[in-house]
Amino acid sequence: MTDSLTIRDNRTGDEHELTITDGTISAGEFGKATGLAVYDPGFTNTASCRSAVTYIDGDAGILEYRGYPIEQLAEDSTFLEVAYLLIKGELPTKDQYDQWVHDITYHTYVHENIKSLMQGFRYDAHPMGMLLSSVGALSTFYPDAREIADPSTREIQVIRMIAKMPTLGAWAFRHAQGKPYIYPDNDLSYTENFLSMLFRMSEPKYQADPRLVKALEVLFILHADHEQNCSTNAVRSVGSSQVDPYSAVSAGIAALYGPLHGGANEAVLKMLRKIKTKDNIPAFIEGVKEGKERLMGFGHRVYKNYDPRAKIIKKACDDVFEVTGVNPLLEIAQELERIALEDEYFVKRKLYPNVDFYSGLIYEALQFPPEMFTVLFAIPRTAGWLAQWGELVDDKEQKIARPKQIYTGDRTLKFTPAAQRWA
Ligand code: CMC
Repeated sequence: MTDSLTIRDNRTGDEHELTITDGTISAGEFGKATGLAVYDPGFTNTASCRSAVTYIDGDAGILEYRGYPIEQLAEDSTFLEVAYLLIKGELPTKDQYDQWVHDITYHTYVHENIKSLMQGFRYDAHPMGMLLSSVGALSTFYPDAREIADPSTREIQVIRMIAKMPTLGAWAFRHAQGKPYIYPDNDLSYTENFLSMLFRMSEPKYQADPRLVKALEVLFILHADHEQNCSTNAVRSVGSSQVDPYSAVSAGIAALYGPLHGGANEAVLKMLRKIKTKDNIPAFIEGVKEGKERLMGFGHRVYKNYDPRAKIIKKACDDVFEVTGVNPLLEIAQELERIALEDEYFVKRKLYPNVDFYSGLIYEALQFPPEMFTVLFAIPRTAGWLAQWGELVDDKEQKIARPKQIYTGDRTLKFTPAAQRWA
């Protein structure tokens, strides 16, 4: 058996043989042989790169970072160790880990002008808008970031960005509340420091409940990467122009801002509030089936099984609610999940809870307003975006992203100047 595919063009009777490599055929080779292009809006069946960062088996509900199952990392690792793993490709030695944590901690402060820039936003600015602009603005503070061919320059930008994201995210949160921005406390761990910048008031040292710190570490680990999703694709696509990584990551943040991507957990809470009581669930489900609305937090382009991250988050709910008290919306969510998983509409389409179904409930219990949920996604995802960006920069097969189109407009019309058309 040869690893090839024979295609017959029925218009001409011509046959073409295409090589199959890693379960794919080359679109370039296909185009050259047949003169045809592939139409694939949303890239539902197009591989845009080779990647060794994250593996997903959507049918089996498997997620692995660099070969390590997400369940094991969530249980026993820290977010910064996972960030190292994603970026560098292997787990750190003790010395490497200590150095990495030191470097990230050392770079948590931002230039005071970034603070002024953030203070210039309207009092009610959405924190995601503030985050994406301030990350974009960082490129102007580090012009050396344009030297993307230099590995040591790349490394320092990666450290800076992972280090500064919690500072920017926390300040965007404080801004909306009219509270003073809190500077990083470099005695604290990554997640403790983030909580301190979010919630500290006049106390000399912020002390977070260790159970909440652990829950946040788990949430950060679960959100650190997810292969070629919309925002990662945005980072890669923009990065393919060889722009600096701050600009590429700000494009990722913009993509994540959308309700079908990172904004879904906010939409889940709105939906649960609208449903209000368990009695209203059947009518809501009927509305979903009639196409009047979507069951937010359900369904996924890749997972056709329970999202493994949703399972871990559901468990983390218990730990958080032990500290904060149970979120009353949890009951509605659980009942909604039970009914949907038994309903033929959802079963037939393989629609299961995704990562966003329960994460909003935890974030709300931790006192975050819904606008902050996506910021809590963007901070850890920065590690994944940068791992993928680094891989792109090193990949000799990559070119500037430039899809084809099927043109559907008019052609060769005769232009009449406005003065004559409007006369
Ligand atoms: N509620 C009701 N029906 C749905 C849903 C849903 N949440 N998701 C998909 N369907 C139906 C859809 O109407 C279609 O039915 P039909 O075949 O009869 O036309 C079928 O299932 C296939 O859906 P699709 O829209 O073609 O699937 P997609 O891969 O393009 O969309 C999705 C994936 C995540 C955008 C979609 O499932 C959705 O909108 N879910 C709700 C939003 C959400 O929870 N997003 C978070 C995604 S996970 C976090 C992340 O990675 O960012």
